[in-house]
Amino acid sequence: CCVMIEIPLFVILCINTECCVPDVCRYPLGMSGGQIRDEDISASSQWSESTAARHGRLDCEEGDGAWCPETTVEPDNLKEFIQIDLNLLHFITLVGTQGRHAGGMGNEFAQMYMIKYSRDGSRWISWRNRQGKQVIEGNRNTYDTVLRDLDPPIIARFVRFMPVTDHSMNVCMRVELYGCKWLDGLVSYNAPAGEQMKLPAFPVFFNDSVYDGAITHMMTEGLGQLSDGVMGLDDFTQSHVYQAWPGYDYVGWNNESFPSGFVEIMFEFDRPRNFTTMKVHCNNMFSQHIKIFRQVVCYFRSDSDWESTLLSFSPVVDENDPSARFITVELTNRMANAIKCQFYFKDAWMLFSEITFQSDRAMYNTTLVPPTIGSPTNTPPDDPTHKIDDSNTRILIGCLVAIIFILLAIIIIILWRQVWQKLMEKASRRMLDDELTASLSIQTEVFGYNHSQSRVTNEQESNAAYERIFPLGPDYQEPSRLINKLPEFAQSSEEPNGAPHYAEADIVNLQGVTGSNTYAIPAVTLDLLSGKDVAVEEFPRKLLTFKEKLGEGQFGEVHLCEAEGMQEFLHEEYLFDIPEDQPVLVAVKMLRSDANGNARNDFLKEIKIMSRLKDPNIIRLLAVCIYSNPLCMITEYMENGDLNQFLSRHEPEGQLALLSNTATVSFSNLCYMATQIASGMKYLSSLNFVHRDLATRNCLVGKNYTIKIADFGMSRNLYSGDYYRIQGRAVLPIRWMSWESILLGKFTTASDVWAFGVTLWEILNFCKEQPYSQLTDEQVIENTGEFFRDQKRQIYLPQPVLCSDSLYKIMLSCWRRNAKERPSFQEIHRRLSDLES
Ligand code: ADE
Repeated sequence: CCVMIEIPLFVILCINTECCVPDVCRYPLGMSGGQIRDEDISASSQWSESTAARHGRLDCEEGDGAWCPETTVEPDNLKEFIQIDLNLLHFITLVGTQGRHAGGMGNEFAQMYMIKYSRDGSRWISWRNRQGKQVIEGNRNTYDTVLRDLDPPIIARFVRFMPVTDHSMNVCMRVELYGCKWLDGLVSYNAPAGEQMKLPAFPVFFNDSVYDGAITHMMTEGLGQLSDGVMGLDDFTQSHVYQAWPGYDYVGWNNESFPSGFVEIMFEFDRPRNFTTMKVHCNNMFSQHIKIFRQVVCYFRSDSDWESTLLSFSPVVDENDPSARFITVELTNRMANAIKCQFYFKDAWMLFSEITFQSDRAMYNTTLVPPTIGSPTNTPPDDPTHKIDDSNTRILIGCLVAIIFILLAIIIIILWRQVWQKLMEKASRRMLDDELTASLSIQTEVFGYNHSQSRVTNEQESNAAYERIFPLGPDYQEPSRLINKLPEFAQSSEEPNGAPHYAEADIVNLQGVTGSNTYAIPAVTLDLLSGKDVAVEEFPRKLLTFKEKLGEGQFGEVHLCEAEGMQEFLHEEYLFDIPEDQPVLVAVKMLRSDANGNARNDFLKEIKIMSRLKDPNIIRLLAVCIYSNPLCMITEYMENGDLNQFLSRHEPEGQLALLSNTATVSFSNLCYMATQIASGMKYLSSLNFVHRDLATRNCLVGKNYTIKIADFGMSRNLYSGDYYRIQGRAVLPIRWMSWESILLGKFTTASDVWAFGVTLWEILNFCKEQPYSQLTDEQVIENTGEFFRDQKRQIYLPQPVLCSDSLYKIMLSCWRRNAKERPSFQEIHRRLSDLES
């Protein structure tokens, strides 16, 4: 990936027939191949260095795996873009996009986007399809490439991809352009606007519907249907474009509108060229009074003056064959940077669908060069004096023969691969079960689980061959990616390329400063001290007074503090119940002064993310102390601590509580708390954030049962039993994790939904029991395998005594095997709100 692929020169010379044919001209222009240089890729903004524009290359995983703009993309403010400068004009027929996968750590993608393009870098044109629609449907996950035809194709040097959202959202993109170099060199044509013909049955519109310049009675400074590579049909009332109106393929003029008897079209080129021919595709349906032109007179402009020597050509008018055809006009090697041609009417109408130019460079360098070959800047300069000679012809013939052989070889390989794949798929389906069972049993062996208790003893010796695992559905990662992750479950911990296993990556991601996970976002190197990344202010450290320690993690501590003058830093919604001059209680999370650079970076990363999260059910960052050490984050204080401890101290309403004199929480307050968690998660998921560790231990309780979601990470001693240590490295909250997170390392909003189901279960059990408390960690992982196999042997968490059937239904829906069938947080929130009312 991202490596420049050199294609032998003979291939360059060989492909000379595809000029402007959208079906053929579909070569990747060099984002994924590396031919487009980093300095030619720019963006409106970037989240961090590691998500700069240069990382927005399709299929590349460098940096943090994609280009991400600095802020969320807002629906009503389209300002973010990634821009590619191709250095030369290109005919672009196809675009490809991907999200940020980053080896399973990424979550962001663009569900929609728009394309803008420019030929000169100053006039920008919004691409529209033939129906006038600008928005293109983008990605649905972080890893699949989605290709979209640009119909009409564009002729441009600069292209921008602009993510579009229907709500405020984090978006990252990787992109590719496909097409070929535009060797016509035509940058615009000016022509009289096309006209309307009134046939008895229906009107026929001969306007240039994709013209991208200005249109009044004249069309100026644009390109359109005459250069879109689509040739009109013999019958002009039919159209190449499905559902287009009669006459769509043609631009046409009526003799009566032109007293001079001709239509003048002026063509501007990128630079002076030595022109050999012009080909005009004309309709010739003489039964409808349409004929090819009678005569064409062309003028040539070199530098700024029109030359006096004109060129005239009269084609043979054909009144026998009504088919549309190309008329070739010899331009006799005239040098020009603009050509003006007057096309004389032979009949009442003249209809053109395409006009192409062949100039010396185009002929020599082939009409259209597939652009994967060398970077645009590597293209040799034009040599206008160079002509095709015999040796070139011989080379061309040789190349054609070579190409035919290569194509034959490719066809044989493709056929062979298809047969092989079918065989492998059959074999894989049979083996997949065995393999996963094997991988799980191997794992249990590694962790010293007594496999005589396991159901899978027979398979333990089997050699788990993960290469044979194939995608389970469109939502799953492709095999190569699965393979990269699954070895975590095999005995060997070495991977051939030394890439980190997902659990290693998780160590970094899941253990923040006080152990925090900080949701799944790009790992960033922040420029926090410049202040440009933070949407939160510095607080004078001396105004903080320590009260007590609230918690401790691997890299720091959380203190309860009084903060003087904090009112200035509070948002309106907090101010109403806080006296003006009194100190405010706040939680201060502090990075240990001896913490290493990674921890510091993670701390700053956490600040950056937290500062952007603004929701009543997400813990709010109020201020920071980052100008000096130790780095501090000041968050709101929740007086009732975490939800797990809170519920553990309470009982359901009833006799038992009365007798033991324990504080109670009513069923409706339990539902109220669950609804708030769903609401906070609805917000996070709307931003494409994946929490990865939703559980009661990560929710805080304030006054009147208010809940805010936080993330304390995995290093709090109190909850160490909730995390499973893989070979002493990664720690994973396996009892809250979906089967695909455990087996495939796949963390998505749908896996957060799974964890929400478990959290709901905890709540209705008053956190008196750990999920699957009767199972060991290894048995939990085995049960995960059963969820995967789906042979009705998986064990679900039981319906808590207090839990109504409708609530249990919600839980079960969160644990559906197919991630796509799980409800969204929006739906969960709605269902819980309905239950409450
Ligand atoms: N971090 C740890 N305990 C906390 C609390 N009670 N409120 C806010 N943040 C906390």
